[in-house]
Amino acid sequence: MLNNTAIQGNAFYSLDFDKIRYVNNGIFCVNDEGYIVEVYEEKDKDYDLIRLKYLKNGKLRILSDSEVMLPGFVDLHIHASQWPQAGTALDKPLETWLGEYTFPLESKYKDLEFANDVYRDIISSTLRHGTTTALYFATVDTEPSILLARLCGELGQRGLVGKVVMDEAKANPEYCRDSSPEEAINETEKFINEVLKIKGLYKQKVYPVVTPRFIPSCTSEVLEGLGMLAKKYDVHIQTHCSESDWAHKFVKEKYGLNDAQALDKFGLITSKTVIAHAPFLEADDLELIAEKKTTIAHSPLSNAYFANSVLPLKDFASKGVNIGMATDISGGYSPSMYQAIRQAVISSRMLQDGVNPSLQSDVRGRKDSSITLNNAFYSATVAAGIALDLPIGKLEKGYSFDVQIIDINNNIPRFYKEKNTEDLLHKILLLSESSNIKEVRVQGNRVK
Ligand code: GUN
Ligand code: FE
Repeated sequence: MLNNTAIQGNAFYSLDFDKIRYVNNGIFCVNDEGYIVEVYEEKDKDYDLIRLKYLKNGKLRILSDSEVMLPGFVDLHIHASQWPQAGTALDKPLETWLGEYTFPLESKYKDLEFANDVYRDIISSTLRHGTTTALYFATVDTEPSILLARLCGELGQRGLVGKVVMDEAKANPEYCRDSSPEEAINETEKFINEVLKIKGLYKQKVYPVVTPRFIPSCTSEVLEGLGMLAKKYDVHIQTHCSESDWAHKFVKEKYGLNDAQALDKFGLITSKTVIAHAPFLEADDLELIAEKKTTIAHSPLSNAYFANSVLPLKDFASKGVNIGMATDISGGYSPSMYQAIRQAVISSRMLQDGVNPSLQSDVRGRKDSSITLNNAFYSATVAAGIALDLPIGKLEKGYSFDVQIIDINNNIPRFYKEKNTEDLLHKILLLSESSNIKEVRVQGNRVK
């Protein structure tokens, strides 16, 4: 079978939490719909034949030795609307940052021209950083939230977008909230229907997401209504959960439950739910989300600031919880998933136990905490595909051809050939700048 195009070159992708697969000089055949239909390796008997067929038709793109393909990254939690304040006020506590900085900014998106400028910029920026799929929070206002979804479609990113629901008068200022639970539910339903109609300019899709901001922002009436809407339309759900001591305590006082259990009471913990942050989940919460196949979006930069905490990723993963990776713009300051991957590894190493040498016997940290780059790479790719139930994150037959092509001769010292290919992947993950990313493709279409 001869398909639309093929790319011949070297590639890395994650097989599971620990293992990496390196494909040496593979031929990745992509069909008209942008899916990988076959991957041929040099050892395969049809390799030369297939190569010749594509060459004859002028459909074979051959990468050079200094180019390597990685799957596109999936940012599993990002506030597109907070992009203008990235890098601002992160020394404030979450509740002050929300009231003084974030809500005033988010209320500006009623101005659709402003929304258009910011949203184009954040989509382009994340694409340039190799993010081919993003799970976005927009704002409380419906029209600009629909615009964000349209722009993802137009600019070629696979976007999952939520109109933010925040109807609790005690927690949200009048200028930035839903006027009632009924209005919030009606607007969310309108948003879902509008987004379902959007066709990506390329072949990638955009998806509506039910998005209660977090429990303190929402009335119980609205949470109940949103649980029913998510079920009716079988759509994804995203929210913040167990993020800070303050939010955690608030939920406990209101519902006598931890955040995850309270969300579950309203039908908001499902296999299509992504909960952002979650460093303060407790044992029974973990059991619940593992059983429901709910995913955590890990934003290590944001956790360092707002939670003063490190997500015990390895411990949670060992209990069967799926964990993706995220920037959390602007709780995290960088739009780059490379930064998220690096910080996830660094933070986890700081959580690792050991004997404090200056105190001799005093043991710090917790056992078996440090994660590897392989683990973080898995979270940024394969775990996200599992979370979103989409064929993304691997470079295998049946997967969408979402790739970043990395130029390894730029910014990365290469005075000798690395001992093994995994060493090369680790150098790419730790040293690449956005200028290393030469080309980005979403569902086969070139977007950078
Ligand atoms: N909790 C509620 N809203 C937000 C938000 O916008 N960012 C973060 N990091 N946490 C939140
Ligand atoms: Fe967030």
